[in-house]
Amino acid sequence: MNLPEDKTSKTLQELGIALPEQVAGLFEEVQSHFDAESSKDFIEILWKEFRDEWLGRKSGVLSQITDNWLKPASPELKRAVGAALNQLRARVEAKIEERRLSIEATEEKWSLTRERVDLSLPGVLRPVGSHHLIRQVLQQIEDIFFSIGFSVVEGPEIETPYYNFEALNIPEFHPVRDDMDTFYLDLPPSSDGKDAPQPLLLRTHTSPMQIRTMEKRQPPVRVIVPGKVYRRDNPDATHSFIFHQVEGLAVDTDITFCDFTGTIEYFVKQFFGPGVKTRFRPSYFPFTEPSVEFDVSCIFCGGSGSAAGGGACSKCKGSGWIELFGAGMVDPAVYGFVKYDPKKVSGFAFGMGIDRLAMLKYGIDDIQVFFQNDVRFLRQFP
Ligand code: FA5
Repeated sequence: MNLPEDKTSKTLQELGIALPEQVAGLFEEVQSHFDAESSKDFIEILWKEFRDEWLGRKSGVLSQITDNWLKPASPELKRAVGAALNQLRARVEAKIEERRLSIEATEEKWSLTRERVDLSLPGVLRPVGSHHLIRQVLQQIEDIFFSIGFSVVEGPEIETPYYNFEALNIPEFHPVRDDMDTFYLDLPPSSDGKDAPQPLLLRTHTSPMQIRTMEKRQPPVRVIVPGKVYRRDNPDATHSFIFHQVEGLAVDTDITFCDFTGTIEYFVKQFFGPGVKTRFRPSYFPFTEPSVEFDVSCIFCGGSGSAAGGGACSKCKGSGWIELFGAGMVDPAVYGFVKYDPKKVSGFAFGMGIDRLAMLKYGIDDIQVFFQNDVRFLRQFP
């Protein structure tokens, strides 16, 4: 039975209460109803309902008693109703607060039980990755060049023929394009079908960034450019159709061939160790003049050219030397493309294959392992 609702919506007069003694009995009835209700089991949401049912400002039991019993009460009854109502309010408020605290404590106990960490359970072992060997070698190369004042720039892997060839002094029918001919992108024609799309290709070397850097900056320029490059080379132990290069470029008003050889030798000794011997051989690149190939003494046979078990060393083919990279003094014709004055500036450039450097340093005899992602290989270089 919903006792308070039945009675609290009526006035005392309607309930037939005329004497103060009857008021006490009526409040006792309400209180015992409250006591019975408040001792039920509550979860938080039901407790809130219960609180509003009794203490709600508009239609709570206590507000109803105030409106229907106290306010219209006759002067003889008002004092008794007021005193009993105060007593009841104190009891209701105290009990409701007490229930709130006990509900909170129970919830906390439950959540502690739910979230308890069992330290005796075996942990979950998550495998920790590491940098790929190519990334590690690149980091070593960058650190060496940072230490002598170079900074890093990066450029697009999809290039225009202008940057990949023409601005590097390689005109359209130059024979050197044959060595580097590469993957062109199949581009859709323009929407009106009139203009042929500008051809784009996957860059064959990092050298286009020489041009892009000089277009943006005035000398002194001292940068290295790491990145992926692509060629139509058939895969074998030392060739891949995708590989990594680091370009180097230094241009200023007074850079000589001595600065060039000094920088390269410093790099090689830092990278391979002081024991390695180096040499330059004349070579040809359309964008450097003079051009060189740079060799290091074979780290597999110590430069002797002989294998440990007799016969010729298979890595350097008995020569005692391994080709490392191409380089040279920047050809004055290149300065014309970037609006530098060739009479005022000079500089050098080089382009190294990171994969080949890594193979030499770590004695890896097949370049393909860098691209196969076999964890048995990768784990050897944590
Ligand atoms: C060039 O790419 C020139 N751009 C280098 C250069 C830069 C010269 C600046 C002068 C001034 P080359 O084609 O030789 O040169 O390639 C440079 C290096 O890339 C080679 O020495 C070799 O280490 C590496 N390389 C070339 N082709 C491959 C390939 N298919 N797979 C793996 N590495 C390669």
